[in-house]
Amino acid sequence: MDRAELESNAVAMVAPGKGILAADESTGTIKKRFDKIGLESSLESRQAYRDLLFTAAGIEQYISGVILFDETIRQKSADGRPFPELLAARGILPGIKVDAGAKPLAGFGGETVTEGLDGLRERLAEYRGLGARFAKWRAVIDIGAGIPTPFAIEANAHALARYAALCQEAAIVPIVEPEVLMDGDHTIGRCEEVTEATLAAVFRALFAHRVCLEGIVLKPNMVIAGKKCAAQAAPQQVADTTVACLRRHVPSAVPGIAFLSGGQSEAEATLHLSLMNRMAPPPWQLSFSYGRALQQSTLDTWRGKAASVAAAQQVFLRRARMNGLARNGSYNAAMEQAAA
Ligand code: 13P
Repeated sequence: MDRAELESNAVAMVAPGKGILAADESTGTIKKRFDKIGLESSLESRQAYRDLLFTAAGIEQYISGVILFDETIRQKSADGRPFPELLAARGILPGIKVDAGAKPLAGFGGETVTEGLDGLRERLAEYRGLGARFAKWRAVIDIGAGIPTPFAIEANAHALARYAALCQEAAIVPIVEPEVLMDGDHTIGRCEEVTEATLAAVFRALFAHRVCLEGIVLKPNMVIAGKKCAAQAAPQQVADTTVACLRRHVPSAVPGIAFLSGGQSEAEATLHLSLMNRMAPPPWQLSFSYGRALQQSTLDTWRGKAASVAAAQQVFLRRARMNGLARNGSYNAAMEQAAA
């Protein structure tokens, strides 16, 4: 294991003022995103969309890394350069989603375990050759009646730790993503309880699997009420509860935490991050690794039209800049109106 390279790449992924773009939607997920703008998902439209994102002028000021999907890491920009090469030339680290998705956990109705460990060592070696310097694996924990069970949390933590150890062996920084979903009607208190149990299990497993904590990036959910909960927590409460929860469970050896947006609106995700970064400095960088919260308005502006590429790139740059400002707490909600 090359610890020095792992550690320096992990630090670069959560560099001050920057965060990660999650552009690793699987073929099924990107189709859902394109359906919403009335665009057919094809090899060409997916390439055109990712090209729009990766060539947007100025984003390297705010984007430290991009998570790619297997198809995308093999695709090229319009100028013929492979996407990983284009990103690296801009000072942006290329990353790769390596999990094979959350699948039903046999015997545990309504719960899932993320698959993709078989053959992972060989796949990581290939991805490293294609330019990947970090990877992502997403475990999914749903909250509902009687779930999550401790067993499902353990199964997911175990898989995350096996993945992380294999990544580090291949000199690839693992993004460790245990996502507690915000889909239900649960309170923020219930989310806190489940996030605590999940993080405790994940760090126990990482320790047991001898994962070097200095060479990972944690990608958690924020602690937030379910979307269908009548009692939504105020933004400051989300920020306070999330940081308190992380302080209890994330060792200070971890260089950074890059949140997922998980269904929050663009403005909500940016505000929550900014409020957290205004608090007393925690031991780790608090950053973003957003998918929807970085791309929604860009997709709505583009809608698959070549004539709208430049406008969509401006919208994307602006969203990246807002989140860059949130990295040191200098974003505020009024900025949304000012630039709209
Ligand atoms: P969202 O920010 O849209 O939740 O996506 C981030 C991600 O990569 C989920 O795995």
